[in-house]
Amino acid sequence: MTDRKNTPSLDTLFAQANGAIDSQTGGVVPPLQSATTFVRDENYDPLSPNHIYARDDNDLTRLGEDMLAQAEHAEDGLLLPSGMAAIAAVMRTVPNGGRIIMQSGIYWGATKWTRDFCARRDIELIEVDCSDLSALQQVAQPAQILWIETPSNPYLKTVDIAACAKVAREIGAALVVDSTAATPVISQPLDHGADIVMHSATKGINGHSDVLAGFLACKDAQGELWQNLKTDRHDAGAVMGSFEAWLLIRGMRTLPLRMERMCSNALAIAEHLENHDRVESVLYPGLKSDAGHEVASRQMAGGFGSLLSFCTKGSREDALKTVGKMKLFKRATSLGGVESLVEHRHTIEDTVPDNLLRLSVGIENIGDLIDDLNQSLT
Ligand SMILES: Cc1ncc(COP(=O)(O)O)c(C=O)c1O
Repeated sequence: MTDRKNTPSLDTLFAQANGAIDSQTGGVVPPLQSATTFVRDENYDPLSPNHIYARDDNDLTRLGEDMLAQAEHAEDGLLLPSGMAAIAAVMRTVPNGGRIIMQSGIYWGATKWTRDFCARRDIELIEVDCSDLSALQQVAQPAQILWIETPSNPYLKTVDIAACAKVAREIGAALVVDSTAATPVISQPLDHGADIVMHSATKGINGHSDVLAGFLACKDAQGELWQNLKTDRHDAGAVMGSFEAWLLIRGMRTLPLRMERMCSNALAIAEHLENHDRVESVLYPGLKSDAGHEVASRQMAGGFGSLLSFCTKGSREDALKTVGKMKLFKRATSLGGVESLVEHRHTIEDTVPDNLLRLSVGIENIGDLIDDLNQSLT
């Protein structure tokens, strides 16, 4: 998984944390600075011009932003304290009385928050399945934001980013792509015409299920939208703490390696489940039979992500029995960590089919994972 367009490649950039060495000690790990405030000299000049107050100035946050912005081929990046904080920051740029067009069937938390927000602010919200381009074109009209998520969670639908960018330009909207399930290692939505890319960095980017984080990156750092986002984060204070940024960078150092293993494990599992007689259907863009495979192959490189869903044959109770028998797949929400997880999404979100199981595939031995699925599907 090398990227020759970048110098250095993503593997090297991440492994070396962008070359960060502690200038005081030569330590090969960036130091954790916990101070929230920094002293000034006798003339009241800051001892270090970039260190005044931790809400404004945090070296670790800047390093993480820089690494991720390079990976996304972005002009600038912003880390926020969670994926939802990043989503809310973008939506809050829409004025009262504005309009948002948002993909339906995406991460439930994003849909729920945006619905409530739009109702409060008299913003029209149009929800549409953006993986169906003609459906999007039918509802397209002037808007501030066109929001898509690809691959989507939990249905793993692929949305054509370049086609949506064209629609966004026609209606004067900024195209924002939630690329959480892809990670910046296998997809760079800005290269396909998106204006902003968003991640829940809690997931694959961190990869160890121990940090909440959100990330935004842009194509045009001087544009009004990005300047508004930057000012809002700075002034309203939606910043990460130092320790979270330190943990995030520590996790990110193995991101390309983890994604390689997780993508190959996920594909092997999807192919196995597709031929399993207790399985009704498998949702994964890496499968040649998947409706989004062709588009996904165009906008993802080196894999199709670690998230997949499948529907078991039989009732809700049969699906729950399967989940109950799993030993290696931990019964927990979230995705993108090194440990494999299973989620009966209907329990959380009742519009999801009650026989759908979502898997977040980790880095374990593939034979062990397939054995666990086989014994749980008996
Ligand atoms: C696709 C997607 N976007 C955004 C989020 C929200 O991220 P966070 O939990 O970091 O707030 C999630 C969380 O599951 C997600 O799956």
